Amino acid sequence: MRLQPGNASEALRAFTISTLRAGLRPLFPVKKYLNEPVATWPPLLGFAHDIKVPRRTSLQGPTGASNINILLAMLDRTAAVPGDVAECGVFRGASLVPMAAHLRQVAPGKHLFGFDSFAGFDDSILFDIGLGGPGEGNKRVGGFQDTSCGLVLEKLKHFRVGNVTVIPGFFRETLPRCAHRKFSFVHLDIGIYEAYKECLEFFYPRLTAEGVILLNDYGKARWPGCQKAVDEFLSDKPEKLQLAESGVHQKFLICKL
Ligand SMILES: C[S@@+](CC[C@H](N)C(=O)[O-])C[C@H]1O[C@@H](n2cnc3c(N)ncnc32)[C@H](O)[C@@H]1O
Repeated sequence: MRLQPGNASEALRAFTISTLRAGLRPLFPVKKYLNEPVATWPPLLGFAHDIKVPRRTSLQGPTGASNINILLAMLDRTAAVPGDVAECGVFRGASLVPMAAHLRQVAPGKHLFGFDSFAGFDDSILFDIGLGGPGEGNKRVGGFQDTSCGLVLEKLKHFRVGNVTVIPGFFRETLPRCAHRKFSFVHLDIGIYEAYKECLEFFYPRLTAEGVILLNDYGKARWPGCQKAVDEFLSDKPEKLQLAESGVHQKFLICKL
């Protein structure tokens, strides 16, 4: 790859952040916080270990990114609903790791499954690019590929959360491995039409009554494929979309009747 000015400033930014993180990590040893509620973990612990924590997210305005306050509230809401938990769209585990730590505290009997290609988007993103909406750096074939399954497994090990299975690969190949399971909560953070369609078709019939599917990208101009897939999917279902709010942050969800 030729070095362009944009690439160089992105590389410098990434280097600065990773140097800062490495310097901060010894000041925020994970061991010290493992038995404390995730909601109390300091913002700098989140930054140092590259995970989302409620006290860090509360400082931010609304973004299209997944919201950890809403995710933890959904885990609480569905703690007594029978079934396991899944996240589709793990990327670097920034939401998977705190979800696992919180789940261990509020519903220790549940297992969390994390699904991701760890190769970013395949060419099904081309359909979404055709749908329009604002661009962003990751809206391309291979977007979000700057991660690996090994990196996420290391993070999970570091946070000593053993209640998680990470399943690498594209959903069409990996979801059938959990075909025999029931779910109480599913987080979909996957941007594009085909992925939302595949996940809704897979999880909806496996969702227990009162179980929740949280739709990270619904209503986001940047990812119109999500709204299209959800609206098409719900057109012959009895459920209506509900809204989850946390301060200025909002996400849509399906709660199974
Ligand atoms: C926005 S990122 C997830 C961010 C993460 N939840 C967080 O909060 O940091 C979206 C992820 O979905 C994954 N993804 C999208 N379509 C996929 C598919 N069809 N199969 C597997 N993974 C897919 C991408 O590889 C990417 O890592």
